[in-house]
Amino acid sequence: MVGHALLAPGAEVVVSQYCFAVYPIVTALFGAKLVVVPAKNHAHDLDAMLAAITPNTRIVFVANPNNPTGTTASREELARFVNAVPADVLLALDEAYIEFLDEPLDLLPEIRNGSKPNLLLMRTFSKIYGMAGLRIGYGIGHPDFIAALEKIRQPFNINSVAQAGALAALDDTKHVGKTRKINSRGLKLYARTFRKLGLEFIPSSANFILVRIGDGQRVFGELQKLGVIVRPMGGYQLPEWIRISIGTPKENKRCLEALKSVLGQK
Ligand SMILES: Cc1ncc(COP(=O)(O)O)c(C=O)c1O
Repeated sequence: MVGHALLAPGAEVVVSQYCFAVYPIVTALFGAKLVVVPAKNHAHDLDAMLAAITPNTRIVFVANPNNPTGTTASREELARFVNAVPADVLLALDEAYIEFLDEPLDLLPEIRNGSKPNLLLMRTFSKIYGMAGLRIGYGIGHPDFIAALEKIRQPFNINSVAQAGALAALDDTKHVGKTRKINSRGLKLYARTFRKLGLEFIPSSANFILVRIGDGQRVFGELQKLGVIVRPMGGYQLPEWIRISIGTPKENKRCLEALKSVLGQK
């Protein structure tokens, strides 16, 4: 929707290296120019992204935490960035994984007091709520910008079953708490095991973790034969890495055992 509202040939979109794959696709869809800013330690280099903004820039996409790296900007860094993005550039802040953070930066006050009309917070029920198949999410932004999105929103874009599910999910704090706990333990287990195995990994605050295992495509294929599906990262220019989704304790154990056997480690 932000692509429909803001992009056309001649417009520029600033993203980070290793950004979520959909941003380049949306940019190409509208014939706009993608400006990719090199990552710093696999994370967004927000200062460099700021410096990449030109008079033609219409949108900056930042996923925090990011997919596929799981990296997260510090609260201070992000607050500085939000304040520094020029008023005529939309900061599309993708908070798909925000519920997994212990102390996320709360930008709702900035939206509520109207001081950041160029900020759009984008959230989803696909991640911590586990409702990806229902295709429902939401954006929080200044009423003027939301009104612009309403002009191009398809009238029947969200169905009533998804809406009922989403409203119930918002009240299900028990599920969120339980999932956060299971996820945080899972992240620690993977980090600990990777250290033991001498595997490089990127510390993650999302519900997946990137680990460097050599030939990502081969390991993906071998794991699949053992009934474990991970994501090879060749499409993200990380051919030596795979991304593993954090599961239940039982699933994590099974995944790590399969990985050890594929890598020939005990
Ligand atoms: C950073 C990020 N944003 C958005 C999405 C898409 O979520 P949805 O299912 O709500 O379209 C994903 C899903 O992979 C994601 O990783």
